[in-house]
Amino acid sequence: MQGTLGGGTGPGLFALDSRTLLICCFILNVAWGQMNFTGDQVLRVIAKDEKQLSLLRDLEGLKPQKVDFWRGPARPSLPVDMRVPFSELKDVKAYLASHDIACSVMIKDIQVLLDEEREAMAKSRRLERSTNSFSYSSYHTLEEIYSWIDNLVTENSNTVSKIHIGSSFENRSIIVLKFSTGGSNRSAIWIDTGIHSREWITHATGIWLAKKIVSEYGKDHALTKILKAMDIFLEIVTNPDGFAFTHSMNRLWRKNKSSRPGIFCIGVDLNRNWKSGFGGNGSNKNPCSDTYQGPSPQSEPEVLAIVNFISGHGNFKALISIHSYSQMIMFPYGYSLEPVPNHDELYSLAKDAVNALYKVHGIKYIFGSISTTLYTASGIMVDWAYDNGIKYAFSFELRDTGHYGFLLPAAQIIPTAEETWMAIQTIMKHALNHPY
Ligand SMILES: *[C@@H]1O[C@H](CO)[C@@H](O)[C@H](O)[C@H]1NC(C)=O
Ligand SMILES: *[C@@H]1O[C@H](CO)[C@@H](O)[C@H](O)[C@H]1NC(C)=O
Ligand SMILES: *[C@@H]1O[C@H](CO)[C@@H](O)[C@H](O)[C@H]1NC(C)=O
Ligand SMILES: *[C@@H]1O[C@H](CO)[C@@H](O)[C@H](O)[C@H]1NC(C)=O
Ligand SMILES: *[C@@H]1O[C@H](CO)[C@@H](O)[C@H](O)[C@H]1NC(C)=O
Ligand SMILES: [Zn+2]
Repeated sequence: MQGTLGGGTGPGLFALDSRTLLICCFILNVAWGQMNFTGDQVLRVIAKDEKQLSLLRDLEGLKPQKVDFWRGPARPSLPVDMRVPFSELKDVKAYLASHDIACSVMIKDIQVLLDEEREAMAKSRRLERSTNSFSYSSYHTLEEIYSWIDNLVTENSNTVSKIHIGSSFENRSIIVLKFSTGGSNRSAIWIDTGIHSREWITHATGIWLAKKIVSEYGKDHALTKILKAMDIFLEIVTNPDGFAFTHSMNRLWRKNKSSRPGIFCIGVDLNRNWKSGFGGNGSNKNPCSDTYQGPSPQSEPEVLAIVNFISGHGNFKALISIHSYSQMIMFPYGYSLEPVPNHDELYSLAKDAVNALYKVHGIKYIFGSISTTLYTASGIMVDWAYDNGIKYAFSFELRDTGHYGFLLPAAQIIPTAEETWMAIQTIMKHALNHPY
């Protein structure tokens, strides 16, 4: 039931020779300023009943800003994954044991995975420099992604263009790619990745999708048909400040980086800040919470930019907002248990998308409305979309189901993107064939 406690001390510094010291300095240099997660673990708990779920929820209050839920307490059949710092492990495990809640260790030492991820990125960066090519099977920084976007647009100017829709809190450009083969005010499909900055597999999937769309137009029959009638808009880095922060300081940062006078904690959960059920169940008024909703709906520039863009366009027919992890395809509502008026159509479309995805690599997703599949969540983007007339509004949770969680190895980027593409195509085709 229990793994070993991580951590422990390594050899003292004095035991090192100068060559090792040099290498150490190099590693320190690379990781300069980065938060160190050595010995921190991700614990998995399967709550037996509602009472145990509520005891798990209490942990957020008992250990403020210490327990980081990767998968929050939802319902007894769904696992709860939580990151616990080394210094809190004893306490948290004792708390669980005292309430007879069984837990297992999902990730024994987070820093080990982070070091591997960093090393893989450095290796791929050297290769990209020497071959002057972009690797779709590695993770990239914001600067790398933005410069790749510029190249993509330059090389495919007949199908893709770049739109600046606003600036982030820290004044980074918020960029949307527009895939279009002409026409004016065509009906459109919106896709976004990376609204939660630590969900790196989603940005990587977005990059792969963009490349896929420009390369397959004119070749792939279904895509060509879609692009002849509709435009596709893709926002890859939906939370640029948060994403930059996951590279420079804290790989596991979820929120944006907004700060307000007199408030110590930083950031708003950009997927609780929308004007639909804002402030309801499953969002948090505490600025220190990872699901902090913000002071008011659309208070965040990253959210407001999308609201203005989508509302100003006025002709979006489908919206797909991509998260990780859990392997789910979901639709509104998040803020209410009530089925939406189009529930049956959305349910059957989600089912088709899940089946199409499964056929690619045999990966199983679950599906349903957000509030019944996952948990009640208020102020979320897909609810806002649905309430504003975009009927085909879906939220994806990509791989995995918790083996690596947010630290999905780069080797899984391409398979994840390939299967996600089939699910997206299913929804796009349906939107094309069912105009409204
Ligand atoms: C992180 O902390 C551990 C243990 O405290 C230490 O051994 C390791 O050198 C640190 N790593 C970095 C990159 O600072
Ligand atoms: C934000 O960035 C833009 C372009 O990079 C610059 O022109 C502008 O002055 C910046 N604004 C602030 C408040 O720093
Ligand atoms: C992001 O954070 C900044 C300050 O940290 C805040 O002003 C801004 O409104 C936030 N934006 C979002 C979308 O959370
Ligand atoms: C929020 O949850 C409480 C307790 O479960 C419930 O009584 C209430 O009706 C919910 N509010 C909404 C708006 O769904
Ligand atoms: C685009 O078309 C939609 C639907 O026909 C319409 O509601 C909207 O106002 C149009 N937008 C613009 C900018 O023309
Ligand atoms: Zn997310």
